[in-house]
Amino acid sequence: MHIGVPAETRANEARVAATPETVKKLVTQGHRVSVQSGAGLPASYIDDAFAQAGADLVDAATAFSAEIVLKVQSPSAEELASMKPGTVLIGMLDPFNTENTARLAAAGVTAFALEAAPRTTRAQSLDVLSSQANIAGYKAVLMACQYYQRFMPMLMTAAGTVKAARVLVLGAGVAGLQAIATAKRLGAVVEASDVRPAVKEQIESLGAKFVDVPFETDEEREAAVGVGGYARPMPPSWLARQSAQVHERAKAADIVISTALIPGRPAPTLISVETVKHMKPGSVIIDLAAGRGPEFEGKRGGNCPLTEVDQVVMKHGVHIVGHTNLASMVGADASALYARNLLDFLKLILTKEGTLNIDLADDIVAATLQCRDGQVARAAA
Ligand code: NAI
Repeated sequence: MHIGVPAETRANEARVAATPETVKKLVTQGHRVSVQSGAGLPASYIDDAFAQAGADLVDAATAFSAEIVLKVQSPSAEELASMKPGTVLIGMLDPFNTENTARLAAAGVTAFALEAAPRTTRAQSLDVLSSQANIAGYKAVLMACQYYQRFMPMLMTAAGTVKAARVLVLGAGVAGLQAIATAKRLGAVVEASDVRPAVKEQIESLGAKFVDVPFETDEEREAAVGVGGYARPMPPSWLARQSAQVHERAKAADIVISTALIPGRPAPTLISVETVKHMKPGSVIIDLAAGRGPEFEGKRGGNCPLTEVDQVVMKHGVHIVGHTNLASMVGADASALYARNLLDFLKLILTKEGTLNIDLADDIVAATLQCRDGQVARAAA
């Protein structure tokens, strides 16, 4: 097959969908790989390395004219127009965005959104949400250090003792757990909250304290179990008690890293304006849910309503960081892991002979397929 790897064109996107390592494997399997010249540069992969791996270096139009196009983000209208109907497009295509899916269907491409893969053991090696959220959780802590004007670890110096930073992590999924681990490595005192009771043990095994909000009704207990490993919206009674707890913990914290998401729904509001007003001056909120929260004053915030998308703002003496693409800031490793996810996905839709075989009996293929032959796929509709 002819596989194209165009450069990403969205603002703040440094990642690339293939690396010399994955290109080499695809070429060994007998495919022709066309990488747009310069596509890897923002992620530190130079053209020469792609050429040595066996890729052709081409312009954007040639990369988009391939039979299979590997992307990080959904293509722009112009990019989509340069793809032939029937092209297989694979990327992080925003599967809950029905408008985008309709746009891809109208272009006649066969599109796979890897974010829609089930969270099963077999899907782990192609789980882009995990590979990228892990990086975002790590980078969130480093970013917090950049704005926080004190040390993370406890230090005893001749000039006196410095206290360890207190870090509160809200949402202990893939990003949250990596944030806990990274903050612990830097010497912070960490506590974390999540709705899913299963994560208590994971939080504690990383050396952090679990902020417990006990369930009081069967409805609360049932909602907390979630579906398919994901959280569901919690009843207002539990959210009110959680909010009171978070308020107290955030007041005592120096850094809050919030990562709470509910697939297909607005992210929950966990750090209220009132809570921000009571936080210590100079404290830092890194809101990984930026742009995904409910609307506040005409804009979508994150887990905190005061978060502004892709901005760093100072509100009530608190730095609030709303970067939406932290994985891209660790572009080389983010691309390396993402490209391996794509390579593993390709195994599901390519035969050993190197031909295309879209088998909808495969649960991963069926769940990720967004559209084909101009129609939105059943799982995506
Ligand atoms: P996510 O990014 O959708 O959400 C982040 C976290 O926010 C979750 O832990 C969620 O429970 C939490 N959250 C939602 N509402 C909250 C609230 N009101 N307060 C506090 N926390 C709240 O989740 P992510 O990281 O994508 O992980 C989802 C699940 O998938 C997890 O159970 C994870 O263990 C599982 N998983 C399974 C894999 C596999 O078996 N292939 C691979 C990776 C993750």
